[in-house]
Amino acid sequence: MKKYSKAMLSLVRSVTWLFSITAVMCVSSVQAQQINPLESDPRAARAGGVLFRSQCATCHGGDAKGITGIDAPDLTSIWAAEGTTDERVFQTIRNGVPGSIMPAHGFTDPETWMLVSYLRSVAATGATEFSGDAVRGSSLFLSNCSRCHRVKGEGGSLGPDLSQITSRRSAAALINSVREPSAVIARRYYPVSVVFEDPGAGDGGRRQRVQGTLKSEDAFSIQMMDTNQQLRAFMKADLLEFLRESESLMPAFSRTDLSSAELEDILTFLQSQL
Ligand code: HEC
Ligand code: HEC
Repeated sequence: MKKYSKAMLSLVRSVTWLFSITAVMCVSSVQAQQINPLESDPRAARAGGVLFRSQCATCHGGDAKGITGIDAPDLTSIWAAEGTTDERVFQTIRNGVPGSIMPAHGFTDPETWMLVSYLRSVAATGATEFSGDAVRGSSLFLSNCSRCHRVKGEGGSLGPDLSQITSRRSAAALINSVREPSAVIARRYYPVSVVFEDPGAGDGGRRQRVQGTLKSEDAFSIQMMDTNQQLRAFMKADLLEFLRESESLMPAFSRTDLSSAELEDILTFLQSQL
């Protein structure tokens, strides 16, 4: 009984809160300046998170970092892009992105601002200062990472360019990318494999399997970068198999492969390459 009344009380409290912010909203919508009127209210981000998980997570992921196999952006890194403001994000949520699967949403102003607050709260800060040894990090990067990753134009391209990465991702996200690459796979680097008959390979042809990252796809064809870092295009009709894999092509680096101090060195090196 006591528990129940406590729950009721908090329900009444949040309903009162919703009413009061709706009132604030009505006043502020008269002004031309579109700043988030809920900016300083921590409850707004929480309420926005609930809305996000029910309305947006199917495409953008429960943590707003995107989902493997769905081409919707990681929303934690939008704030680093030039020209991203609360108002622009508000308008994007309201109007959707024409010509894409991002739909328009019929939320009220307060709800839309709550979503903006939520997205602010999960923003990758990039403010982290790694304080390892950049010189040691540079040589560790060269021996462990650069065959797949470019930094300032040098290195491989099976994985994303890491030149600006420390300003676009939080420290936790970066560490996670290295320890558990398959947990969140970077957009445009989804692993795929194809099997096709190679007619040039002797009598009746020979089956070949090629693994790589999916670069683009339409109804009839795909373009991928194979693990030898060659861009290849295939007609879907020519493929015996086309599989979307769940394991990233990046190997997981455990603490025995790369100690925490060594990883800190690498991230310090990357931070020095902004
Ligand atoms: C059906 C899938 C889908 C749903 C549902 C969806 N989105 Fe999107 N969203 C996308 C796609 C795809 C894009 C990229 C559009 C483009 O630029 O081509 C996008 C783009 C965005 C952007 C712009 C990102 C940038 O780069 O500036 C924001 C902000 C955004 N979505 C927020 C939301 C929010 C908040 C919700 C829930 C209310 C939501 N989306 C629901 C698919 C979706
Ligand atoms: C065999 C190739 C390969 C090697 C070696 C490799 N990576 Fe990757 N990496 C990838 C691929 C492919 C992706 C994109 C798919 C994904 O996110 O898992 C990626 C993604 C990443 C990301 C996420 C980027 C983003 O935009 O979120 C980071 C960070 C990263 N790698 C760091 C490293 C570091 C540091 C090393 C060395 C310790 C390393 N990688 C070694 C292939 C590799």
